[in-house]
Amino acid sequence: MLSLSVLRADPEVEAIMKMSEKQIEAIGYTEHSRRHAGIVSKWSGDILRALGASEERVRLAEIAGYLHDIGNCVNRKDHAQSGAILAYRILTRLGLTNIEAAEAMMAIGNHDEQYGSPVSDLSSALIIADKADVHKSRVKKPIDDLVTADIHDRVNLAAERSYLSVEDGVITLHIEIDTEICSVMDYFEIYFGRMKLCRRAAEFLGCRFSLVINGTVLV
Ligand SMILES: [Fe+2]
Ligand SMILES: [Fe+2]
Repeated sequence: MLSLSVLRADPEVEAIMKMSEKQIEAIGYTEHSRRHAGIVSKWSGDILRALGASEERVRLAEIAGYLHDIGNCVNRKDHAQSGAILAYRILTRLGLTNIEAAEAMMAIGNHDEQYGSPVSDLSSALIIADKADVHKSRVKKPIDDLVTADIHDRVNLAAERSYLSVEDGVITLHIEIDTEICSVMDYFEIYFGRMKLCRRAAEFLGCRFSLVINGTVLV
């Protein structure tokens, strides 16, 4: 199976990742760099490993996780679908079987909360890993006024740290937030749509989803 280091070093992947970052920066959107790709890759694999998946399955989740946002090099709109198709071609070229590449394509094409659904173990792990990456370093533009700031920026700006745990059939997203920027309830309201998708994804994996903010269990 394709290694992550070969995938990361591939010149085509490199070029597309660079162009994605350039486009996201140009439209002033939350950071979607190789840092985000790397974290989502690791967490997608960690979730499946904790649930007893084979190392091949874990690797495939890591691969899909790394490539999940490459559609941003086409356009932010519908980036999940465009990225999925780009990834399929790259992954078959790099030696994945058609079925493996199609699995990764399906997971990438379903990671976005607007049109995505948990349709496989891979896609479910990817959805949760992607939504779990909230951190203040992801806000790239200067924020003059928190009240009028974009909701994604406020949510990210408030987040000091986030991580996932998988224990006894419960996938928990732990977030530590600065309540000066965003109250726990504001945070929950802003995050409600994403959390609903995470809950469905956890259910697909035979688990329950829990959200813990500043040590308080919200769901
Ligand atoms: Fe995305
Ligand atoms: Fe993402």
